[in-house]
Amino acid sequence: MPLDAVGVAMLGAGNVGAGVIAALRAGHERYAVHIGRPLLLRRVLVRDTARARDGVEASVLTSHFEDILADPAIEVVIELMGGEHPAREYIEAVLASGRHVVTANKEVMAKHGAALLAVAAAHNVRLLYEAAVGGGIPIISPLSRDLLANDVTAVTAIINGTTNYMLTGMSQTGTDYAVALAEAQRLGYAEPDPTADVEGTDASYKLAILCGLAFHVAISPDDVAKQGITRLAARDFKYADALGYTIKLLATGRLVDGGVVASVQPTLIAKDEPLAKVDGVLNAIQIEGDLVGRVQFQGRGAGPAPTASAVLADVLDVARDIVAGRRPAEAVEHRKLPIHPPGMHRSRYYMRVTVQDQPGVLAAIAGILGGQAISIASVLQVETDDDARTAELVITTHHATGAARDAALAEIRALDVVVEVGNVLAMAG
Ligand SMILES: NC(=O)c1ccc[n+]([C@@H]2O[C@H](COP(=O)([O-])OP(=O)(O)OC[C@H]3O[C@@H](n4cnc5c(N)ncnc54)[C@H](OP(=O)(O)O)[C@@H]3O)[C@@H](O)[C@H]2O)c1
Repeated sequence: MPLDAVGVAMLGAGNVGAGVIAALRAGHERYAVHIGRPLLLRRVLVRDTARARDGVEASVLTSHFEDILADPAIEVVIELMGGEHPAREYIEAVLASGRHVVTANKEVMAKHGAALLAVAAAHNVRLLYEAAVGGGIPIISPLSRDLLANDVTAVTAIINGTTNYMLTGMSQTGTDYAVALAEAQRLGYAEPDPTADVEGTDASYKLAILCGLAFHVAISPDDVAKQGITRLAARDFKYADALGYTIKLLATGRLVDGGVVASVQPTLIAKDEPLAKVDGVLNAIQIEGDLVGRVQFQGRGAGPAPTASAVLADVLDVARDIVAGRRPAEAVEHRKLPIHPPGMHRSRYYMRVTVQDQPGVLAAIAGILGGQAISIASVLQVETDDDARTAELVITTHHATGAARDAALAEIRALDVVVEVGNVLAMAG
């Protein structure tokens, strides 16, 4: 080992790990110039040490976490195992041993980020997580540094590539949910068990991290109101299109009346909005600040190479600090702000309702919405089934609270003339 190398270890060498190892090898000389010393990968923790890993000597592999802590020449540990446990415990142990950590783990950072950052501060080391949100898109660093002078009032994002790929397919080819999911699984964009993506859990982790940084608040993924995409049908996209909209799984955080509103839900977005044009596996994050106005970050939100770009940016940053002997800056203090419950969230709504095809039905529904102070913006009677004597109504509304919407829907469902209340979706803007 060159005496002055910065010693690095990795926890995990799967998809992203392989990308990091390949980039470390390819960029070795450039990185040494940036840092002023070379990086040396000293240990790689995996479950199965019998399986060869491209670019890694067998002697570097270990399945014992203690081997990492036992090597005093390791100064930076890159955590790419994923999952909550034992990743959280390993990160904490590494920080407590006085080493810096770079992680791509959104679940650990969303659930335990504040506590782990406190451990890092107590031990005078850094915990960096650029890759945890938006893969290769720089967003953690811009929020922590470049936009810090702003009072950020809104974060609006498409931060799950799997669902964006599926929704783009449904929108462009008129396919139904099950077909879009099967196609995403065939191409490896969706896991065999897609729950974390399609139910919005993955996006809620990332939104919690973004809101924490943007608004300087402690917010847990449980504070994010979630609605998945599993109930969306091909005709929702057809009706949205007729109204001039497309549908995206939108992660939204806003400061409203001195509190935070955070949600992940399928949302109608006007087709001329920049986020409506973010298609396929791409991710995009829009930030609104009082000084900067609206800025949008867009790019590949996953994949070994884009994620390695973010991981290695953090590694270079911390290695430069090590070489320069710089101490980590103090973290920005969190504020105590209330998190508004979903009933207080205000939105416009799209409502698809199947009704008996007879006079007076629309008046009855309009009366119920009016009773909850929800005013109708437009009505489409879009399809009729002559045999069943039913019709489908698509109603869009002006802004109303989630509580008013739910109260109105309960009354609408109880009407004799209503066959089914189909999807009810938020509309952006
Ligand atoms: N995939 C992406 O595009 C992407 C993008 C952004 C962020 N991320 C995040 O990056 C992290 C890694 O994702 P990935 O897709 O690379 O995961 P992955 O392919 O499943 O790789 C996980 C690696 O960790 C090792 N590992 C897991 N549990 C372990 C344990 N208990 N002890 C020792 N080794 C263990 C595995 O060892 P074996 O190889 O022996 O099984 C494997 O090498 C996750 O936090 C993920 O959310 C991923």
